[in-house]
Amino acid sequence: RIVVLDFGSQYAQLIARRVREQNVYCQILRHDLSAQRIAELAPKGIILSGGPSSVYEDGAPRCDPELFKLGIPVLGICYGMQLACEALGGKVANATSREYGHASCEILEHSNGDDDLFAGLEDSIDVWMSHGDQVSQISEQFSTLAQTSTCPFAAIKHDSLAVYGMQFHPEVTHTPQGGQILANFVRNICGCEGSWQLSDFAEASIQKIRQQVGSKRVICGLSGGVDSSVVAAMLYKAIGPQLTCILIDNGLLRKNEQSLVIDEFTNHFKTDLHVVNAEDKFLASLAGISEPQEKRRRIGHDFIECFKTEANEIEDAHFLAQGTLYPDVIESGADPDGPAATIKLHHNVGGLPDELGFELIEPLRDLFKDEVRRLGLELGLPESLVWRHPFPGPGLAVRCLGEVTKDKLVVLRAADAIVIEEIEAAGLYRDTSQTFAVLLPVQSVGVMGDARTYDNAIAVRSVNTDDFMTADWSRLPYDLLARISTRIINEVQGVNRVCYDISSKPPATIEWE
Ligand code: XMP
Repeated sequence: RIVVLDFGSQYAQLIARRVREQNVYCQILRHDLSAQRIAELAPKGIILSGGPSSVYEDGAPRCDPELFKLGIPVLGICYGMQLACEALGGKVANATSREYGHASCEILEHSNGDDDLFAGLEDSIDVWMSHGDQVSQISEQFSTLAQTSTCPFAAIKHDSLAVYGMQFHPEVTHTPQGGQILANFVRNICGCEGSWQLSDFAEASIQKIRQQVGSKRVICGLSGGVDSSVVAAMLYKAIGPQLTCILIDNGLLRKNEQSLVIDEFTNHFKTDLHVVNAEDKFLASLAGISEPQEKRRRIGHDFIECFKTEANEIEDAHFLAQGTLYPDVIESGADPDGPAATIKLHHNVGGLPDELGFELIEPLRDLFKDEVRRLGLELGLPESLVWRHPFPGPGLAVRCLGEVTKDKLVVLRAADAIVIEEIEAAGLYRDTSQTFAVLLPVQSVGVMGDARTYDNAIAVRSVNTDDFMTADWSRLPYDLLARISTRIINEVQGVNRVCYDISSKPPATIEWE
């Protein structure tokens, strides 16, 4: 495996994913992990990520300098390169101008051996820069491998240690040959074979689940989302009849969602499925509440209560399976060697396992979302389920702005179904990451036939994103937007206006509440 030490880079996960694309297992660890602990983990290579700090600032995050002497190849990216240079006798300074964006990078040295970071590349490549500081002087033990017009040390290599650095970001798609550079590092320089396969991983996890569970029973909440479906599919493969799934219909699901989940799931897996119809309970506790956090809190609370009641009915239930993904593990600080928590992610069922006294099973905690989707396909889940857009735990409640009522949900559900139908008909469902309708808490004046109307407004939201941490609004074709608008206004009673949300995240978020 390869480890990435995270210095607060927004791209650390992207680095890990790019490495995994080489079929090499990759883990993100805290930046200050001791060289001794790293040696125990015995990775084949270490990547130092970028980060927002300056190496010459007080309190700037640093790595253990001993790690450069472990004999394990190290690649420093941006801030990581500056750290490596500083630790090994170079100088870092504020660049005369901040550099952000494309640059043309001239490769000065091809060794053509196993240690060639730029093997297979032309002498000039496009790269993506994003930095304020840069290395201004390298020690005698380093040689320069590449330069740009503003950055004399765009890539460097230590003469006797296997320590490399690059000022640009090979992990972003704006560095088109970045994948090849990282492949050269992990395959040639670190000597990874590239034999990490998702199918082997799945098989090993299934064996592990069998051992852990023995003859006990596992319960698994099913939401219709890809994560919980893949968890259930994996458990079904591992322990079949010892699995019970629970689907709580809180009245906040999308059109036909309950029957879709039941059909798609039970068609593929003959698992024990309990469906709890809890619409009345949820809508009663949401009555009169318009503050978004309070809405979420109440939904979370009701969810726990429902789940508890249902789980108590299931004999011998000892384990609870959850669809926690690798980004959740990293972000929540749950891994003792992992980086410190940065942004707290949403949790559907806060505190549930503890309160219920279950042991947890989290078979996806080493995987990224795209890997989970691939795993779902390998496990035989239908494409329609595997490629569904994410849907938040609090469901339509956070898209029905202000107070949630049954009548408003009817309007929102109908509008949302049209948005999805049209985006699918245009063949763009897979090209957008998340697309949905939002019911705004405003009325506006319109004219229909010859009559004045004073009705609701729907906002359509569609975003493209890799990781849902940042997102851009989707450039949907005008014709498609026109069809969506016309259909919603004609077919959904109570709507006379449709807007398209053209905000990116940040500063907006994907959901409106
Ligand atoms: P935001 O709105 O924060 O959303 O940009 C990022 C992603 O998370 C989803 N989301 C949630 N998922 N429980 C969830 O399981 C939640 O409370 C929640 N809130 C937002 C959102 O749909 C998007 O995919």
